[in-house]
Amino acid sequence: MRKVIALGGAALMTALSITSVRAAEAPAKIQKDCAVCHQMSGPASPDLAARQTRKGPPLFFTGNKFRRDWLEAWLQKPTRIRPAGDFAPDHAAKGPEGDAVDAASLSGHPAVDAPAAKQIADYLMTLTPNTALLAKEDYTPGRVSARIGAMDFVKFKGCSGCHKDTPKYGGFSGPELHTAWQRLQPPFIVSYIRDPAAWEPRTLMPNKHLNTAGIHKLANYLRTIGEKPEKAK
Ligand code: HEC
Ligand code: HEC
Repeated sequence: MRKVIALGGAALMTALSITSVRAAEAPAKIQKDCAVCHQMSGPASPDLAARQTRKGPPLFFTGNKFRRDWLEAWLQKPTRIRPAGDFAPDHAAKGPEGDAVDAASLSGHPAVDAPAAKQIADYLMTLTPNTALLAKEDYTPGRVSARIGAMDFVKFKGCSGCHKDTPKYGGFSGPELHTAWQRLQPPFIVSYIRDPAAWEPRTLMPNKHLNTAGIHKLANYLRTIGEKPEKAK
């Protein structure tokens, strides 16, 4: 299944070519190119239909969400983050053992060359409307063992119903989290788990009303698995 998804992505990656432009023109061009599928300026819509029909996740708080080095690298070589796309019901099919991902219905993400990736990352990292949300968090990354962390993530907190914590295990309706630590700013991880709707009013992620220690434990687990990508694969 995963191989099919990866191949589909590779085939489509070259379909769109996005190149860098003169610095002064970059913001307008990026806004235009990416707005085809992404919300590029806030605030997020509270409309449920808009969430269900959007073509991609919002990018207007990129500077509050992603690690810049990850972003620049990913734009050049995008890999699938949401195993069943941005709205899983559109890409789920009945399989012999329940719901499965309908890989053929997914397309890959457009890739850009290195100069364009730098230009896009430079611009998107300036989009920081939610700095105040991050400032509420006081998180110093700590440690949790992979075994204890996995038990917590899977059994006690029920995150694996929707998220993968290894490429093999977990649900497919949410973004995979085995590379979350490389992808996301730690305060964003903590803030999103605490109150997903503060980021996206129509998020499909439930608010589990966890206490701060519980949230930090989950973030530490994402660190544990994310800092050892070669073992998670
Ligand atoms: C044809 C629609 C389409 C276009 C055009 C497009 N994207 Fe995307 N983008 C998506 C989809 C769908 C996803 C979710 C992919 C996944 O989760 O695997 C995505 C994901 C992303 C992500 C990760 C977001 C997250 O929250 O995980 C970034 C960053 C991104 N796109 C940047 C861009 C930029 C920059 C442009 C313009 C140069 C662009 N995209 C153009 C459809 C598109
Ligand atoms: C019912 C499914 C579901 C459950 C259960 C769930 N999530 Fe989510 N989560 C999602 C979806 C879906 C998103 C993306 C928001 C969207 O697409 O509307 C998300 C987003 C996230 C993000 C942001 C990731 C990104 O790249 O944008 C983090 C971090 C996260 N979840 C952590 C957790 C943790 C930790 C748990 C367990 C306490 C959990 N989630 C439980 C569905 C779920």
